[in-house]
Amino acid sequence: MQDAAHLPIALFDSGVGGLTVFKALARRLPAENLLYLGDTARLPYGTKGRGTIIQYTLLAAGALVRRGVKMLVVACNTATAAALPTLRREFAPLPVLGVVEPGAAAAARASRNGGIVVIATEATIAGGAYQEAIARLRPEARVRGKACTLFVPLAEEGWREGPVVEEVARRYLDGLFAPNDTASREERPDTLVLGCTHFPLLFSALQNVVGPDVTIVDSAATTAESVEEELRGLGLLNPSAGSGEWRFLTTDNPDRFARTGGLFLGSPLEPGQIELVDL
Ligand code: DGL
Repeated sequence: MQDAAHLPIALFDSGVGGLTVFKALARRLPAENLLYLGDTARLPYGTKGRGTIIQYTLLAAGALVRRGVKMLVVACNTATAAALPTLRREFAPLPVLGVVEPGAAAAARASRNGGIVVIATEATIAGGAYQEAIARLRPEARVRGKACTLFVPLAEEGWREGPVVEEVARRYLDGLFAPNDTASREERPDTLVLGCTHFPLLFSALQNVVGPDVTIVDSAATTAESVEEELRGLGLLNPSAGSGEWRFLTTDNPDRFARTGGLFLGSPLEPGQIELVDL
């Protein structure tokens, strides 16, 4: 019987976006075995209703848990916001971590003037999970949320920068960051939270649009920190000296997953490395 510490950490997202979290985790914990699922057949989650998101999330998580894992990381803000308590109940005592709390903590730390804009999917913004999590950490913060639905297909298509991406970003963000907004200079938000794991791919286009004074934060690095802390607390860190094994599952079109997934991961993925699964 395999020792629990050697079991993989499972991560999932609606698509390839969660690979931004995978990458941070692989960098921080290179010895860990990682198992990733992108539920591309059902993407996007972010425009669906809460009940549908919970149903999809349970299916994806169930498929991973059945393979034998030591922790589940919900590398999707939309699924975290809608379904984290349900997942924890359903799969107890398996540790289940989401990305919203780590992202909110990063934002609360990064902002100097308390002006924070959260961009995410429609479902994440409507549910208010980020706004509430930041308010718990920094009650005086002025948090505004904005759904940026088109960023998900742009990122999935690998459109990271250029005039089209920046024009879309301006349409979403100008009212919140324009310097000649009614807000005075001090009140202009100084922090932009990427509350969707797809959005880090658009980082430089977003920085061009909001300007160099705005700090952009995402939850990938802080989630990886939380994973390490939790595993250490449970005595489940993999003690192996070598590099962990990486496995990728997708519910549709492994070729496409390899193509766009490589962009998110920052290193090429071969279609042969990706297993097509049915949930
Ligand atoms: N990557 C997902 C998130 O972090 C959203 C993508 C989708 O809409 O499915 O919210």
